[in-house]
Amino acid sequence: MSTKFIINPGGCLRGSLRVPGDKSISHRSIMLGALAEGTTVVSGFLEGEDTLATLAAFQAMGVNISRNYGQVSIEGVGLHGLKAANAPLYLGNSGTSMRLLSGLMAGQNFSVEMTGDASLSHRPMRRVTDPLSLMGANIETAEDGTPPLKIHGNSLQAINYDLPVASAQVKSAILLAGLYANGKTCVTEPAPTRDHTERMLAGFAYSVVRDGNTICLEGGGKLQANSIDVPADISSAAFFIVAACIAKDSEISLQHVGINATRIGIINILQQMGADISLTNQHDVSGELVADIHIRSSKLHGIHIPPEQVPLAIDEFPAIFIAAACAEGETVLTDAAELRVKESDRIQVMADGLNTIGINAEATPDGMIIQGGKIQGGIINSHGDHRIAMAFTIAALCASETITVTDCANVATSFPNFVKLAQQVGINISEQ
Ligand code: S3P
Repeated sequence: MSTKFIINPGGCLRGSLRVPGDKSISHRSIMLGALAEGTTVVSGFLEGEDTLATLAAFQAMGVNISRNYGQVSIEGVGLHGLKAANAPLYLGNSGTSMRLLSGLMAGQNFSVEMTGDASLSHRPMRRVTDPLSLMGANIETAEDGTPPLKIHGNSLQAINYDLPVASAQVKSAILLAGLYANGKTCVTEPAPTRDHTERMLAGFAYSVVRDGNTICLEGGGKLQANSIDVPADISSAAFFIVAACIAKDSEISLQHVGINATRIGIINILQQMGADISLTNQHDVSGELVADIHIRSSKLHGIHIPPEQVPLAIDEFPAIFIAAACAEGETVLTDAAELRVKESDRIQVMADGLNTIGINAEATPDGMIIQGGKIQGGIINSHGDHRIAMAFTIAALCASETITVTDCANVATSFPNFVKLAQQVGINISEQ
């Protein structure tokens, strides 16, 4: 049955909370832990549907993984120790699982089929299968380049690849295939994207060299097991950061959040809009920078979002659009066509939802123009996109009437305890 959120208007946010573990880092911890020599212990692992899909995929390929309240222990089998699964790997809603696994599966000595839910089954995969084919991978997609993917493991050759889109998933897929390739694989990105794969490979004692926008590694090495403390996910924190900015008389702290420089577009953009956000207790954890983030209510104003911030905030635009709706004046986003191929078409779905609650928002081919205004109530279809559902939940803080969001079950893909934490800090949400 479809899950609905009903959010009564108003409320102010107070308190201190820790949101669940970083999704990108959690996926990668399972993948590298499985392929390492020795046992990797992960704490703060995100027990969301997406990362559990990755975990189950490696169990299906013969890796012993045990899990106990966010603590995961992975008995690595080495780069060549995976076994063929006896059924297709079902990856649910998770684009990261499918794209990163494509790179890893391309160099195995067995075949695998990967499938996903309705949303994942419509997402473009040629962006990974094209470069992997150049390396010698044998991958079949559906006719339009979408899942299911059938990968027949092959020997791979290193390539030098210029990424046509700024995508950490594509970069990572090529680097992970590069572990199995003959020679030195290099990927050049058009703009910086999240660099968790590179950092974590280094943490597993695998040499990765960055020179400007080019990242290279040599195939044929080994990964050494590591212990990983996963920081709280800034992409989940984003909803509470915006919530505390737009709600009246609010002040909250978010603990132990990952603030990797390739992820902090949300903070940079909101600060330019006039947000009162400060960071304390910055320190390094497992090769990633973390901090506590403090947010107070503020009067936001519209801005032209700097294009170079777009890849650094790529998952945060649903929340940023709500901030723009509550800001004074016009906010303009360009250079963000990638948002159209996320879990939903986030440009169209967000513009439609904003219009439903009385905000003048115009979708453009690569972004949106939003006039800040008065939010009314309404019924929003999240189109099964977790971040759309959470974005319209926080919109209710500034609404004059109740907002109902439908098709919210997928919030569990990235933020399983969202409703509970939202209630705890002062959002008037109930679930049906
Ligand atoms: C991710 C990369 C981004 C992001 C996704 C997670 C990753 O996707 O949107 O949620 O973990 O590498 P793209 O590489 O498609 O931009």
